[in-house]
Amino acid sequence: MQQVATGLAVTGSGSAAPETSLDNDGLSQIVDTSDEWIASRTGIRSRHLSGPDESLAKLGAIAARNALSMAQVEATDIDLILLATSTPDDLFGSACQIQAELGAKHAVAFDLTAACSGFVFGMITAAQFIRTGVYRNVLLIGADVLSRWVDWTDRRSCVLFGDGAGAVVLQANENDRLLGFALQSDGCLHDCLNVQYQGKPRPLTDNITVSQGTYQPVSMNGKEVYRFAVNRVPEVVEKALFQADLTTNDIDWLLLHQANQRILDAVAKRLKVPAEKVISNIANYGNTSAATIPLALDETVRQGHIKPGDTIAASGFGAGLSWGAVVFQWQR
Ligand code: COA
Repeated sequence: MQQVATGLAVTGSGSAAPETSLDNDGLSQIVDTSDEWIASRTGIRSRHLSGPDESLAKLGAIAARNALSMAQVEATDIDLILLATSTPDDLFGSACQIQAELGAKHAVAFDLTAACSGFVFGMITAAQFIRTGVYRNVLLIGADVLSRWVDWTDRRSCVLFGDGAGAVVLQANENDRLLGFALQSDGCLHDCLNVQYQGKPRPLTDNITVSQGTYQPVSMNGKEVYRFAVNRVPEVVEKALFQADLTTNDIDWLLLHQANQRILDAVAKRLKVPAEKVISNIANYGNTSAATIPLALDETVRQGHIKPGDTIAASGFGAGLSWGAVVFQWQR
């Protein structure tokens, strides 16, 4: 195979959410909270939740089909499927199930775990394969079903999360529409937000003991995560813009991971981006982790607000801790 270095473009988007939704009044039947508290502290009004018969792979596949259809790309033409998720149906990975579901028989498929930064990390990973000329058509899906791992007795965290999926198609393109990026990690802050494995000793022989157990529910230090996001996200967006030789004045849209409306507002204020350029759909979905960015992108595109050629600065941040930003132009 001859490999020719090339640029890339984001040519289609799609999204999906479980049908069932739970609003703040419904949630206040489960934990001691209120619509007033949740809406004023987070901007969230409702979230979608997957039922026991729904799978992450099925949700991801619906979003993927919608993205392929917008990009007018056949599943059989996809070279690579990247699934950004922290909540696979199968700990060995769920990307291959999506590959089978789509009939994308020529695609190699694997999962990528970077929590709420997963979509941005996935986009940059996909770009490396395209820019080096190895693959031409990549399907990137961000999907999470955090309702499986949320502690539904912890009002400080359970009110924040929801389930959903979003996807984009990235294609080799004569003009490179990915203009700049910056990625960062700090494992020293891992304790702030995690879904930690916890095992019990399981003796196998007299001198060999292994560990067997399961994952603990989401554990979060809300104040620390809030502080981290408001400080680090503007920095990383500035870095990606600097790499793109742009300033915040040049962007049409600021597309942040939908964690909390107050975080969105504070980051936008620090970057001096006016509210009308800040994409937000957190009220209806809550924090869907790796899905928030492609889900919000897809909704805004389908509403006709994002136009071909628009410049978007997107930033994901969360567990790891990890954070990153990417600047790209939509389609073209
Ligand atoms: N309903 C009602 N009261 C609640 C509540 C809820 N759902 N959750 C917490 N409270 C109470 C607390 O018990 C506390 O009461 P007290 O003062 O009597 O002890 C009070 O509200 C304030 O709690 P606190 O934790 O200080 O609130 P906060 O202003 O820091 O807001 C978050 C909490 C979670 C909304 C906020 O810290 C946040 O958004 N952090 C970022 C989290 C995030 O985005 N995580 C994902 C990143 S990918």
